[in-house]
Amino acid sequence: MRKLMMAANWKMNMSLADLEGYIDTLKKNRNVQSGDRLLETVLAMPYPFLFRARELIRGTRIRLGAQNAHWQERGAFTGEVSIGMLKELGVTEVILGHSERRQQFGEYDEVVAKKVQTCIHHDMRALLCVGETLEERKSGQTFSVVQRQLDAVFSGLADLTKLVIAYEPVWAIGTGVSASSAQAQEVHRFIRDKAKQKFGDAADSLLILYGGSMNLSNVRELVAQPDIDGGLIGGASLDASLFSQMLDAVLS
Ligand code: PGA
Repeated sequence: MRKLMMAANWKMNMSLADLEGYIDTLKKNRNVQSGDRLLETVLAMPYPFLFRARELIRGTRIRLGAQNAHWQERGAFTGEVSIGMLKELGVTEVILGHSERRQQFGEYDEVVAKKVQTCIHHDMRALLCVGETLEERKSGQTFSVVQRQLDAVFSGLADLTKLVIAYEPVWAIGTGVSASSAQAQEVHRFIRDKAKQKFGDAADSLLILYGGSMNLSNVRELVAQPDIDGGLIGGASLDASLFSQMLDAVLS
């Protein structure tokens, strides 16, 4: 049986002053203390919070995530942060290829693929985001877009052990309009099938998360789908008690 993962993507939100209160609230949730080992909880936060967060989550099962990184180990890349640096801070998961990075910062498939490879080389888990825009969906390109995004990464990978995929339809991100559970399941199934073609039965253990306006009212139905193994949650993860209730909801 596959585990579940609930990953908070804070994006460029919150402040250092919010951190302790947020984590205190989350710590009250039995699933992040000692509870159900089937659920992994990741907080992907802005870099400046990581050092303090590492202290605050000590002794819990909360995992520390980042939202991006450079693929090079070091060098003249002003403003960038390497995956090795994140590892030193205790980060275990890195979101890569988020549509906001692809669209606003020009990250194309090959760049995302290099980042995933470096992440895995460091024995950290890459949370690879894929998903189509509204125009692409309307013109029937959902599967070809997702396939292209997957192919770029799969071609450089030896196995799936350190990969998590998040299907995030761009039209559902931050819009309040989630994909329906059927729409999401259809693409999740497609992703698992593609992974199976390349990596065989290992694809049965691949975690595929849904992201895009996931909230307390839709999380349970989405995660009840056979190929949806949790969520990557933006807006609704900024409120610790709401996020905590979402953790409970996926296990109920
Ligand atoms: P959202 O964002 O939950 O606010 O739609 C999800 C994401 O971008 O990862």
